[in-house]
Order: sequence, then C-alpha cells, then structure tokens
Amino acid sequence: MKAMDSHSFARPEEARLRHLDLDLAADFERQILTGSATLHYERISGNELWLDTRGLTIHDIENADGFELGPAHPHLGRPLAIRLRGERPVRIHYSTSPAATGLQWLSPRQTAGGRRPFLYTQSQAIHARSWIPLQDSPGVRITHTGRIAAPAGLCSVMSAVAQPDGSWRMDRPVPPYLIALAVGDFARREIGPRSAVYAEPALLDRAAREFEDTEAMIRAVEELYGPYRWGRYDLLILPPSFPFGGMENPCLTFATPTVIAGDKSLVSLVAHELAHSWSGNLVTNATWRDFWLNEGFTVYVERRIIERLYGADRAEMEAVLGRRELEREMAALAPRDTVLHIDLDGRDPDDGMTLVPYEKGALLLRTIEHEAGRERFDAFLRGYFERFAFRSITTAEFLKHLRRELPTQAPLEEWIEGTGIPPGAAEPHSAALASIEREGARDTGRWSTQEWLHFLRTRSKPDLARLDREFRFTGSNNAEILCQWLQMAVEAGYEPAFGRLEDFLCSVGRRKFIKPLYAALMKTPEGADRARRIYERARPGYHPIAQAAIDAIVGHAGAPS
Ligand code: BES
Ligand code: ZN
Repeated sequence: MKAMDSHSFARPEEARLRHLDLDLAADFERQILTGSATLHYERISGNELWLDTRGLTIHDIENADGFELGPAHPHLGRPLAIRLRGERPVRIHYSTSPAATGLQWLSPRQTAGGRRPFLYTQSQAIHARSWIPLQDSPGVRITHTGRIAAPAGLCSVMSAVAQPDGSWRMDRPVPPYLIALAVGDFARREIGPRSAVYAEPALLDRAAREFEDTEAMIRAVEELYGPYRWGRYDLLILPPSFPFGGMENPCLTFATPTVIAGDKSLVSLVAHELAHSWSGNLVTNATWRDFWLNEGFTVYVERRIIERLYGADRAEMEAVLGRRELEREMAALAPRDTVLHIDLDGRDPDDGMTLVPYEKGALLLRTIEHEAGRERFDAFLRGYFERFAFRSITTAEFLKHLRRELPTQAPLEEWIEGTGIPPGAAEPHSAALASIEREGARDTGRWSTQEWLHFLRTRSKPDLARLDREFRFTGSNNAEILCQWLQMAVEAGYEPAFGRLEDFLCSVGRRKFIKPLYAALMKTPEGADRARRIYERARPGYHPIAQAAIDAIVGHAGAPS
C-alpha cells in the first residue's frame, strides 16, 4: 500500500494522521483564519510527525517536544517536523496568511448581494496545507471534526455533517484535499430528500430550479454502482470568481454560478461532482500521478447519469464534444503530458490538469465497456467501488484488479503509459452533431447548448458579423456558448464583442473560461495590450489559482505566493 507521493513532505510510514479537530475563526478584516488543529496520529516508527504547511504561522504546539519548519519549496511549501512526546494528540495553534493559495477572501462587491464578504476554501490539489497543517497527500485518509467562528449574520458550512451544537463531523476517512469550508451570506433551500442548495439569496430560486434533478441523479448512480455513502448531497453555489466548474467536497459540492443556464443544459457538472462520491471520494487516487483514476472514472459515470436522465443522444453529444476537445488540446501538449499515468515530479500538480486524465481516461473505460458488454462492465465497476471503498489506490493496483476481474484485449500498457490515443479506442458518435457538420445551421429552433457549441467549433471561416446578426451570440447568457464565441471573436478581431469580452473577464474567474481567452488575446500585439489592460482590472478579483495561471499567460510579474 505504500505509494510515494512526490508532492508531500509527510512521512506517513513513520507517524500517520488519523483524525483532525479544527477550531478556527474567520477574521475578514485581516483576511486570516486563526485557531488550532488538533492532530490524532498513529505512531509507527521514530519520534517525529512530518506535516505539510504553506504560508502558515505556527504560534505554539502542545504535547510536543518542539518543532522545526523547514525551508520553503516553490510549490510544496514548508515541511513541519514535530518531535513527539508520547502518544497524545498534538495541538497546533496557528494562523494562515492573507496570500493563502487555498483561500479566497471576497469583498462584498465580489458577491451577488454586494453587502457581506465571503470566504471559501479550495484544497485540491495541494492547497489544504495553506490553511491546515497536515499530511497533505491523497494517500493519507483522516476523519475530522470542526468548529468555525464567523462574524455575526454569516453562515458557515463544511464538507461534513452538521451537528446539533453547530460543529461539523466527517466520520468517514477522507483525503485532505476533500476538506472544505465556506463562510458567507447564503440561504438554503431543500431540493430533495437528502439535498439542499445553498446560494446567496438573490440566486437561490434559479439555482433550486436548475438543480431539481439532483435526487434522480443520485438514484441513478445508486442503481448502477451501489449506495450513496455520505448521507447528504448538498450544493453550494459560489460567487463567479470560483476558479473551477465544480469541486466534489463530500456532502457539499461547490459549484460555479456559470452552470446556471436556465435550461439545465449544463447540469452534467452536477452529475460529474456527484459521480465523484464513488470515483474519487470513495476510491481515491493515491498520488496526483493517479489523478486519472479520479477523473476518468468520474467522466465515465457522469455520462452514464446523463444517459439515464436525459437520454443517449445527449450523453453521446457530450462524449463527442469531449473527444473533440481532447484532440484539440492534445495537439498543443507536449507528448509526455498526454500520458494517463503522468510524471508530475518537480511540477505543480495544478499544471497537470488537462483534459487527458478526464477524456482519455473515460475513453479507456468506454473501450473496455464495449469489449466486455455493459452488464459485465457495470458489475466490474460495482465490485471495484465496493472492494476499494474508503481507500486510496495507485494505477498499478487498479490494473492488477482489472486484469484479475475483467481481462481485456485493450493494450493497457499503451493506454496507461503511452502518449496519444491508442488504436482500437471506442469512437463516440452523435447523429445530431454529424448533421451539423454536414449541413450547418438548419432547424436551429430546438438546438441544445451542445449543438450550438458543436456548430461554433466546426465553422472553418465563419462570418462573425453575420452569425451575430442571425443568432445574437454576443448577447448569449449561456457561459459555455459565450466563452466559445468570445474566443472566436478574439481570433477574428471581431470588435463588437470586445465590450462583452471585457465584462466577462472582469466578472467570471473560472479558469477553464478565462485561460483560453487571455491566450487568444496574447497572439497579437494589440490583443496583448488589451489582455494586460483587462487583466490589471480583473486580477484582484481572481482566485490565487486563476491568478497563477493567467500571470503565466500574460507575463505578469505575479504577487509572491
Ligand atoms: N475535482 C475537480 C476539480 C479540480 C481538479 C480542482 C484538480 C483542483 C485540481 C472537479 O471534479 C472537476 O473536474 N471539475 C471540472 C468540471 C467537470 C464537469 C469536468 C471543472 O472544474 O471544470
Ligand atoms: Zn472531477
């Protein structure tokens, strides 16, 4: 079970964390969390407990014979070695830094309500260490409890189960990247027997309607792959600066407001984060090299949910769009970054986040499914989730299990360790999308978001002014369609869209949307000027993770982290 994690200083083979008790106060004035983390551990050998930290100020450690903070590593932070005294839990009194990479402190202006501040965490991949001193490796699983003090009138929530006394408890062992917290002015609405949406009051109605199919989604996965094991499945809608589409924090998915399209056309995001309750949260990648085990399985399950709820046509469209985007992205990647079992040593795992683990991973599973037949493949997956429940596993462990339970002709070694897409891969096909390639915009009256996206992506020399006149893309309120359109507008120098482009970049901080837009702008000198001017205004509103990504694209000096 020993997997070496090159992104952690922890030495769980010497002393291993088992439980964390957090007691924190959110200080919005100083933009810091302060309080204590009490760590329960199992002592295996030696007399030190090695933890990960980044930007933390350690005030005092109780029940220890001293500690030492090592030198700062550019993306791993600083190791904290605690000399243990006996077996008693150690209590670390500490504060975070205002520059913590795992926290975003939003001013009232950056929220929908505009009156109260907001704080949320984003721990994946290695940002938990910027707000909790712990063994920040997905191979280490812990239970946790927590109390969060927030200013009067603000609500605080955690990725755990609310207790009658206002504290939080997660009694299933989870990897540290799944520990999450948010504080803000949000309201709550039940949308199913075990689900509620939390959102700022102004958004609550729209959010509750958009996600009303959540319970049907949960039931669909339960029928396919076994019981939902986390009790509640709630959703928290974050302000638009949230750098991701969604984050599968247990019991409480975090989601960008940009998926609220008004027509449920982007709810595959909920299917995706929900699917992680099996692939990722139940069976977890042991290291960030094995990230495809989380995301590839999740995309596969996500599409099965979409198929059950909205039909095979919709699921196939999403598979075709995913396949196309994968192809497009791979063409620009270094070959070594197209490997599923990717070598991330010496790199920030955030940089390894491409479509490869998602779409190439899902394609491998689909290829095996086609060969084995659905029934056998579903039985295999059910058995896999059962066998490895609440464990963190490596790619090698998955392969061993697969070879034993469901032998396949697929060239596994090539799929896992090789570059590109091996021959014999399953080919998703959508008749609706194929007809758009042949015939363009015909019968657009009932087109779905997916059809519009495919239409835009398959135009070779589009006349943007004409398209805009006919279909009003610049005015689109669907973030996926708008982002695709704005990218084309930048590439074609279509000026009438530039106002909307600037508004979009200054209000939305979702990395997947803003990265390609800045990258497109940077391709010409005038575009680069525009990019820098917009970024100057937009940067303070972006999350540290998005700032780091855009700093690299526009050549911004970047604030030291
Ligand atoms: N767990 C990921 C988000 C993530 C990955 C955060 C790696 C930090 C590091 C989440 O489940 C995810 O994949 N989100 C996608 C949406 C999804 C529908 C593909 C996203 O944010 O775009
Ligand atoms: Zn995911």
